[in-house]
Amino acid sequence: MSPAIRQKFVVGNWKMYTNAADARRLAKAVVDGMGAQERVSVTLCPPFPYLALVGEILEGSRVALGAQNLYPEKEGPFTGEVSPTMLLELGCKYVILGHSERRHKLGESDAFVNQKVRVALAAGLDVILCVGETLEQRNANQTEALLDRQLTCGLADVPADTLTRLSIAYEPVWAIGNLEHHATPQQAEEAHTVIRRRFAQMFGKKSAQALAIQYGGSVKPDNAAALFCRHGVDGALIGGASLIADQFLAIVRAGINASQTEEKSSSMPQLTKPVA
Ligand code: PGA
Repeated sequence: MSPAIRQKFVVGNWKMYTNAADARRLAKAVVDGMGAQERVSVTLCPPFPYLALVGEILEGSRVALGAQNLYPEKEGPFTGEVSPTMLLELGCKYVILGHSERRHKLGESDAFVNQKVRVALAAGLDVILCVGETLEQRNANQTEALLDRQLTCGLADVPADTLTRLSIAYEPVWAIGNLEHHATPQQAEEAHTVIRRRFAQMFGKKSAQALAIQYGGSVKPDNAAALFCRHGVDGALIGGASLIADQFLAIVRAGINASQTEEKSSSMPQLTKPVA
């Protein structure tokens, strides 16, 4: 597959952290720190109760609002759940689906994740679909099979005309919130290649070339640059480091630098082999 330049995409997943005051402070600091840069697309995903207040702060800025989950129905007797229309009304552009914390701690199945993906896309939200293997699966050489299954099931019956609103976050479960184990840039690149190959089989090469694949799992300012310069690593989904404005902004800056370098190298004349 020939190299394609895709905009780097950095997302903060605040999980079940912050309170109203911290959410406000953090969102303001990110908006102020971002300035007018356009190279990296940046999104913040606060907990549901803070979507409205963070949304107000992000309004008119270059930072988009995202949610961490939804329920795949417009409305109905689903106590405690939140619909795609409610998220859109709050100004959300994105929604994270299939996060391993929901798959593993709350028992979300591939079929349920698929239902959410289809409903979210149909409603007009952009979807960040998370996939990734556990340490046991990696050690048993099942990473590729697992990614294959999560993509095949998670993206079943997704209409081709919604694919431009879909991105994938590769998040090895063993690397999330883990200071001892994090994936090497090489491991991330390999998994992204597997994902893009599978995506091409499902939806064609053109869609696969346009697909943004983020890496997630203990991305920090000190490893972001090495990840971002890897082939096919188009950004990051960030948990812990997204709760500290300086760290999050340092990761965004690493994305800006990586995209500048990519642009420069793609505009350099290609060396052609002499004809024998
Ligand atoms: P982490 O979380 O950056 O804290 O590892 C990433 C995620 O779970 O999305």
